[in-house]
Amino acid sequence: MKHDKLEKNIGLMAILIIVAISFGGLVEIVPLIFQAQVTQPAENIKPYTALQLAGRDIYVREGCYNCHSQMIRPFYAETERYGPYSVAGEFVYDHPFQWGSKRTGPDLARVGGRYTDEWHRIHLIKPQDVVPESNMPGFPWLLDSEIDPQLITTKLRAMRTIGVPYSDEQINAAASEVSGKSEMDALIAYLQLMGTNKTR
Ligand code: HEC
Repeated sequence: MKHDKLEKNIGLMAILIIVAISFGGLVEIVPLIFQAQVTQPAENIKPYTALQLAGRDIYVREGCYNCHSQMIRPFYAETERYGPYSVAGEFVYDHPFQWGSKRTGPDLARVGGRYTDEWHRIHLIKPQDVVPESNMPGFPWLLDSEIDPQLITTKLRAMRTIGVPYSDEQINAAASEVSGKSEMDALIAYLQLMGTNKTR
């Protein structure tokens, strides 16, 4: 019987398993590369401003993603709590995206505009001052360091290299946009954007 041979010949079996899995993978992955829905920006989605991009990098550096996701799943309990569920087109300019999966704290995908800048400042310095039961750590040092204007220009250029459509004017203006701003200012600018230009 043919199947007998297949089951006893591990080499042949391995090759056929690879063929089967590759086929399955191609069928799922290749259409995604061409689907406009996942490669084109959703309505209103613009590249981050220089200050927001600097804030995004602080979010990454401080490991906020270890406790916060940025991805609202299409379930009733989630959309009731956080707002409209996330779609792929909202993340086309995120390199790397910050979806995350750990939720020690709430999802942040649509936190923009929910609180004032001042609330965020107090919360980031010492979360327990506004949410007494919070187990989020404070990040007071963000007040003390400034964003490096030279570095942000390079970052915008790097983003353009990988496909984010920054214009020359935006890149030239980047340094002055962040000059004198603290890391706290940048992080808050990033948080306040979340879900605002990202709504569908
Ligand atoms: C150890 C886990 C942990 C880390 C790390 C952490 N958070 Fe939180 N965060 C929480 C928890 C828990 C809450 C809910 C209680 C509260 O509001 O403080 C929260 C709440 C928040 C909220 C309010 C969300 C809402 O919808 O009310 C924001 C904004 C926030 N965190 C931003 C950040 C940022 C930015 C960082 C990184 C600089 C960060 N968090 C790091 C645990 C964490």
